[in-house]
Amino acid sequence: MSTNNSELAERFVKEHLSGYDSGHDWWHIARVRDMAVHIHEVERKGNRTIIEFGALMHDLGDSKFKKQDDPDTGEVISEFLNSLGIDSLQIAEVVRINRYISFSSHEKISKMSDEFMIVQDADRLDAIGAIGIARAFSYGGFRNNPIFIPDKISSGASRSTIGHFHDKLLKLKDMMNTQTGRVIAEGRHKIMEKFLEEFYEEWNYIQLKV
Ligand code: ADP
Ligand code: NI
Repeated sequence: MSTNNSELAERFVKEHLSGYDSGHDWWHIARVRDMAVHIHEVERKGNRTIIEFGALMHDLGDSKFKKQDDPDTGEVISEFLNSLGIDSLQIAEVVRINRYISFSSHEKISKMSDEFMIVQDADRLDAIGAIGIARAFSYGGFRNNPIFIPDKISSGASRSTIGHFHDKLLKLKDMMNTQTGRVIAEGRHKIMEKFLEEFYEEWNYIQLKV
């Protein structure tokens, strides 16, 4: 990707991110982009332009933050990439990545491209490990969710942030698409296990009277 296009894309994404919580800020996008490029370089798979744009745009129009009368995200992305002169097949893949990436997405993609698999791994890696822990509590705070609801570790609806670890975050290491992603995920998974072990130990240190 040319430096100019890269800068224009960064500016476009920053403009469209306002209103999200701090776990979905520009630094999340930058980490996902850099991790996706890293996986691409190690695995030697996928088209770098699609991966970079796909990572940069992956959280635009997130359904958790979307307002009803917001314009169609796919159209906004297409129009912008078209203005940069990007090939229409590449644009279509970037739009597909944006549409199907969320691990909470109800829609399932029919066929995963290499680019999709790489950006999805990068996004999932940012949800686990130390940064994943920080992001979970940032999101929980944003939603005003409790840290923990005793006896409701697996809440289904993730009403507590500790519940969210059991509902989703601890499952991600077994959902990685690439070998590179799997190796990094293993290490980050262990950090979350240690954190939870310590959390429960501190919680139970003195028997709470309720
Ligand atoms: P993405 O990075 O694709 O936007 P999500 O939107 O599903 O993924 O989640 C974004 C971040 O918010 C992740 O770090 C995730 O762990 C966190 N998160 C999502 N739902 C919850 C929840 N109910 N409680 C705590 N953290 C959450
Ligand atoms: Ni994301």
